[in-house]
Amino acid sequence: MDVPAASWLADRRRSLRRIAVVTGAGISAESGLPTFRGEDALWQGRNPMELFTPEALATRTRESWELFDRLRVLSARAEPNAGHRALAALARSHGVTLATQNIDGLHQRAGSRDVLELHGTLWRLSCAGCGHAGVNETAPLPLLPPPCPACGGPLRPDVVMFGEPLPADALRAATRAAETCDLMLVVGTSGAVYPAAGLPAIARAYGALLVEINPAPTELSAQMDYAARGTAAMLLPVIVRALRGD
Ligand code: APR
Repeated sequence: MDVPAASWLADRRRSLRRIAVVTGAGISAESGLPTFRGEDALWQGRNPMELFTPEALATRTRESWELFDRLRVLSARAEPNAGHRALAALARSHGVTLATQNIDGLHQRAGSRDVLELHGTLWRLSCAGCGHAGVNETAPLPLLPPPCPACGGPLRPDVVMFGEPLPADALRAATRAAETCDLMLVVGTSGAVYPAAGLPAIARAYGALLVEINPAPTELSAQMDYAARGTAAMLLPVIVRALRGD
């Protein structure tokens, strides 16, 4: 497939050694997972924006947990796609820092390591009552909300909900990567939610080249040196081969 973005990057590949990648829900779309703002955004008629809040989890606990459990089931059934796998392959030849807004765990299942989960993960649950936290990959869960194995209180998924702060270590590492990279790939994100959406501007301010991989224009497109219009699973394998000189 002749992808102009790949040729554009191939011409520059010798100067593009440190690569930062920011991904959003769009990279998991071809794995069958819903995005937040696409046409499939209203999950089963519910708007995740209303249910992805600490207040909703406290006051509409069952409804919130039904959505989280549904997402866990969908994510568990989903397979990483060629886009996830291409990014894992890129890290075998370049210094890559991968920061994702996704909570589905697909990057890790594709082989990416040290993934910065800016918005947490569906696969770790924690207890506000006693501080217990741990990985739980049972999907569907037998009880909603799942009881804490230590104190019996209700567990919550370790995802960053609207109004909550991002994990400081992950955000710090992602910001550092934006400041030090030669190239930032921005894949499958609308750029609607900060601070993750602010990472491309930081990379640009520090002199990196910015490439967007998205079938549609976004709020970030104007910052890009190159906007590759296409899907992650189609474009990333070609772009990664160009960067690797394969
Ligand atoms: N390949 C690449 N990009 C795609 C694909 C695809 N196959 N399909 C859709 N997209 C793009 C859409 O064009 C859109 O720009 O993915 C983007 C998805 O945008 P959102 O649904 O807003 O998802 P995201 O940017 O990850 O949302 C950021 O908002 O709701 C919160 O915390 C949630 O992490 C999420 C954050």
